[in-house]
Amino acid sequence: MIGLIVARSRNNVIGKNGQIPWRIKGEQKQFKELTTGNVVVMGRKSYEEIGHPLPNRLNIIVSRTAKYEGENLLTASSVQEAVTMAVDADAHRRAGFVPKGEVNVYISGGYGLYKEAIPFVDKMYITEVDTVVEDGDVFFPEFDADAFEKKTGVSGGDEIRFTRTMYTRRVQVKKIGDREITYRKLTETDLETFIRMRINQLTEEYTSEGREVPKNVDLAGALTEYYHRHLADGTFVSWLALDGKTIVGTSGMSFVEKPPYFTCPTGRLGLLSSMFTDPDHRRMGIAQDLLNRVVEEARDYGCGSVWITASDMGVKLYTAYGFEHNGNFMQYRF
Ligand SMILES: NC(=O)c1ccc[n+]([C@@H]2O[C@H](COP(=O)([O-])OP(=O)(O)OC[C@H]3O[C@@H](n4cnc5c(N)ncnc54)[C@H](OP(=O)(O)O)[C@@H]3O)[C@@H](O)[C@H]2O)c1
Repeated sequence: MIGLIVARSRNNVIGKNGQIPWRIKGEQKQFKELTTGNVVVMGRKSYEEIGHPLPNRLNIIVSRTAKYEGENLLTASSVQEAVTMAVDADAHRRAGFVPKGEVNVYISGGYGLYKEAIPFVDKMYITEVDTVVEDGDVFFPEFDADAFEKKTGVSGGDEIRFTRTMYTRRVQVKKIGDREITYRKLTETDLETFIRMRINQLTEEYTSEGREVPKNVDLAGALTEYYHRHLADGTFVSWLALDGKTIVGTSGMSFVEKPPYFTCPTGRLGLLSSMFTDPDHRRMGIAQDLLNRVVEEARDYGCGSVWITASDMGVKLYTAYGFEHNGNFMQYRF
């Protein structure tokens, strides 16, 4: 996934005299959480302001004049080159970078990088800082807000307050080999196909394990009722992969709440389901792309973790992504 992170003032300022024009406790926390283990792409001036590569992530500096190389540090001569480099295993080796699993790329300014990246980023994390900066000299570029779905997250700060917002591109297109795969969210109009695919998948799982599919269960009816209700209240979200008009991959994330506990103060958990890729479209990275999108949805929703009962086939995918076995996971059946 290609993301963008920025903090801007009420009058759209992001920089003044070569610096970020505010210091707010906790404002940088999201940047650290998102980018650690992943890739940050920044302009030469922003890099010089920091003065060193940020630790535990790959730093790619965009510059036509300078060349930085070192541990976790590379230089690209354009934003496009940086994005290609960000997911290139040879480039990772050159910089001694070991990704934590699926690599997300975060464009982190300044102006020229944002301007060039906005047309193709999948997601923008925009922190709205509740202040007006006089004489700012770097601004966040205008963008077509209709192309994105906007969500508002938590607020924080001290004397200056800030609010997190997330803009997710509604239709994301990725070229894989000679195919163009479109990623978008499930809507009510997809439900009939989605439910048919889900029942086929469950039937396949049952029969491959030598079990018989229970008769007299109106699963289609129950699933229709479930998806209607939870799509409407935002506690179920699904990303689909399409080849032309045909759905070739599905995913699903349900959000549930427990009483909060120390490692999950929101009490929110994501339950993963409906991970399926059409056999003719496997080994193209579609399952990883879908998994990444619904896991990011769970992050945006404030979930502390994501749970899955993985099939044997799924274990490899989830392990590569960074899921771990939970030895104590048990189940009581009625
Ligand atoms: N609020 C925020 O979230 C945030 C985030 C980042 C930065 N900032 C602020 O923004 C300011 C810095 O931003 P800035 O826009 O002035 O500078 P910048 O983007 O950090 O750096 C500009 C330099 O990056 C290279 N560059 C930019 N676009 C390029 C392109 N398309 N292709 C190749 N090289 C490219 C060029 O380097 P060469 O000259 O070497 O070719 C250019 O001079 C600072 O005030 C900083 O604090 C704020």
